Amino acid sequence: MKALVVHGPNLNLLGTRELAVYGPATLEDVNAGLEADAKELGIELDVHQSASEGAIIDLLHGAIGDVAGALLNPAAYSHTSRAIADAVRAVPYPVIEVHLSNIHAREPWRRRSVTAEAAAGIVAGFGPRSYTVALRALEGLVNA
Ligand code: DQA
Repeated sequence: MKALVVHGPNLNLLGTRELAVYGPATLEDVNAGLEADAKELGIELDVHQSASEGAIIDLLHGAIGDVAGALLNPAAYSHTSRAIADAVRAVPYPVIEVHLSNIHAREPWRRRSVTAEAAAGIVAGFGPRSYTVALRALEGLVNA
């Protein structure tokens, strides 16, 4: 099984960005943890990070026919991007939305994720572990 992983804007600055919220792990650390879990589960990952809404949509479209599912952290686009939400609805594979922080325990504007409304499920609040929990959930969903 192959899975797409897309990290959205500002996640490239993990490890230095708002440490009290996101913790000390860098995006490389997050990806290394994911790769270790993927290896254990026999999953091949295609990992990307982009600050661009259009590029994220293109990544989702480009994975059609290539992946069994995707993990997507749209970052701040979660709260605004109906275009990414529609892309999530448009692709034939399941997309699990991932957040490091618990978006429901933060500012009121973060509590609504328009992209999560299109996702197969959402994992939030466990730091880098949100990704590994989501990967296992995706594997269970695809191989059910
Ligand atoms: C985030 C939560 C978003 O609200 C925020 O804009 C991010 C990161 C998270 O992983 O907790 O950039 O998606």
